[in-house]
Amino acid sequence: MRETTDSVLTETRESVDVAREAPAHQAMLSDVLAGLRLPQKQLSPKYFYDTRGSELFEQITRLEEYYPTRKERSLLEQWMPSWVHELRPAALVELGAGSADKSRIVLDAMSRYETGNLYVPVDVSGEFLHETAQRLRDEYNGLRVEPEVADITEPLEISVPLPRPSWLALLGSTIGNCDPVGAVRLLCRVARQLRPGDRFLMGADLRPGGAKTVQRVERAYNDVAGVTAEFNLNVLRVLNRELGIDFDLDAFEHRAFYNAEHGRIEMHLKAVGQQMVTFPNGAAPVYIESGESIRTEISCKYDRETIDLLFAEAGLCVERWVEDPEGFFALMLATRA
Ligand code: AVJ
Repeated sequence: MRETTDSVLTETRESVDVAREAPAHQAMLSDVLAGLRLPQKQLSPKYFYDTRGSELFEQITRLEEYYPTRKERSLLEQWMPSWVHELRPAALVELGAGSADKSRIVLDAMSRYETGNLYVPVDVSGEFLHETAQRLRDEYNGLRVEPEVADITEPLEISVPLPRPSWLALLGSTIGNCDPVGAVRLLCRVARQLRPGDRFLMGADLRPGGAKTVQRVERAYNDVAGVTAEFNLNVLRVLNRELGIDFDLDAFEHRAFYNAEHGRIEMHLKAVGQQMVTFPNGAAPVYIESGESIRTEISCKYDRETIDLLFAEAGLCVERWVEDPEGFFALMLATRA
């Protein structure tokens, strides 16, 4: 998923100083400062995704160690033809569409069974979204693509009238970036969009257990090629550039581990020496102790019970649930309760 802000993505500016005073930058700066002043320092994972970060994430999805993308794709290939054939979605609305790679599997089934031809990719990264939209229009004859630029962590507004039944999709275990409160908030917004007959399609990475060991999950976030480490450090590069901060990238190490208590992978950047981070606007500097870490991402893992609870809180009800044979990943279809 790309939870990017346009400002994060814009790499070429005529005047960085002017841009830094823009409201979007003010909001980003206060968000970053607030996170760095918490006892456990933290940064939002949405700041990973400038152009370089988006490319690094695409690389991650192709790593041997990173199983979620492959597992989800094979589940979609296995189940979409029959689900689409049976339920006949007239439109697909995809939240955090990114490159729309996996949505093609749903779109293929919709076109094969002639159930509908409207695709509404929603993504905060406008430029990337419009490129994706044009590529899909070129590729799919008769597909209507109506991209919607929006931050999916904010209230959802879909401006194009949707033919029914519509499917909303949140793929890639994107939900995992949210803590339970954030997840319920996001799911509530999804539920509000659903009319009778509509469905919500979601992919979720599952908790370790059985063939899926903790080590296997941790390996997906600690690839030997170091792509995930680069991705993790990229957040500091983005903040340095966008906010004029002076993080020393060489002074941080990538850490990713499974937190069993919370059922989630945590990514951190661990400081190798004591550091003072200064800000351009006169905000008080932030001190980082040697060995202290900044948490840059959580990636929650789920089981059926946890999903049922979160969905129930949001007024959603799981109707179908399928997993790969090894129980790594789940694909689900839900209705409004
Ligand atoms: C895009 C949030 C689903 O949590 O697995 C991959 C992001 N971070 N490797 C995930 C990610 C490090 C990914 N999500």
